[in-house]
Amino acid sequence: MIILKSQEEIQRIADACHIAAEALEEINKNVVPGITTLELDNIAESFIKSRGAVPAFKGYKGYPASLCTSVNEQVVHGIPSAKTKLKEGDIISLDLGVYHKGFYGDIASTLPVHSINETAKKLISTTQEALSKGIEKAVVDNRLSDISFAIQSSVEARGFSVVRNFVGHGIGRELHEEPQLPNFGSPGEGPVLVEGMVLAIEPMVNAGDWDVIILNDGWTAVTKDRSLSAHFEHTVAITSNGPRALTKV
Ligand code: MF3
Ligand code: CO
Repeated sequence: MIILKSQEEIQRIADACHIAAEALEEINKNVVPGITTLELDNIAESFIKSRGAVPAFKGYKGYPASLCTSVNEQVVHGIPSAKTKLKEGDIISLDLGVYHKGFYGDIASTLPVHSINETAKKLISTTQEALSKGIEKAVVDNRLSDISFAIQSSVEARGFSVVRNFVGHGIGRELHEEPQLPNFGSPGEGPVLVEGMVLAIEPMVNAGDWDVIILNDGWTAVTKDRSLSAHFEHTVAITSNGPRALTKV
């Protein structure tokens, strides 16, 4: 069942999303060669707590950190570590969730570590563009898979592939609610979008093949062919005035 949210509830989700977006901005400033992903996790956790909120990922299904830090061929759910030091030319996907006064916000973005190569640049801009194309379709009377199709077509037009093993999701009083939102598929399928739906839209895009494997830590997803991967996510409310990306500040 898809849980619809009132305007008041959307405002509360927006509050959580606002903290999430600010936390990500704070982390972004610290993405420089030499910093470890564990240090980034500490920044995330302190920032979220300083706002009186709770890091939503920590302890979620046993996940050990507040932030997911996925470097280069890592797709999602990379675990922060004192052993992982960023270096010039890396790309890093940062994903974080905030729980605040009963509601969740979820955001992700992929950043360059100083100067990166052309493929990496194109991968990041393609993934960001795909998210925008998806958000544009998050309007009343469209169907859910119109979002999926828009994401997949814009990615494939640029010669990259969308990950199929992970999906976007509804969000609200739970981090993951119905519906699941694949980043691929034919248009015109699935539930009709109505006012009050709130969706975390999150394309993951690989420079090579779409397939991923999970490392032995049980969390880290990496591309099977070890090609680079990027991830962008916004929490988006469907309103009578069109899509409202609550994690955009
Ligand atoms: N960010 C993921 C999502 O958007 C959730 C991460 S789950 C965690 O659904 F366990 F890694 F925190
Ligand atoms: Co999410």
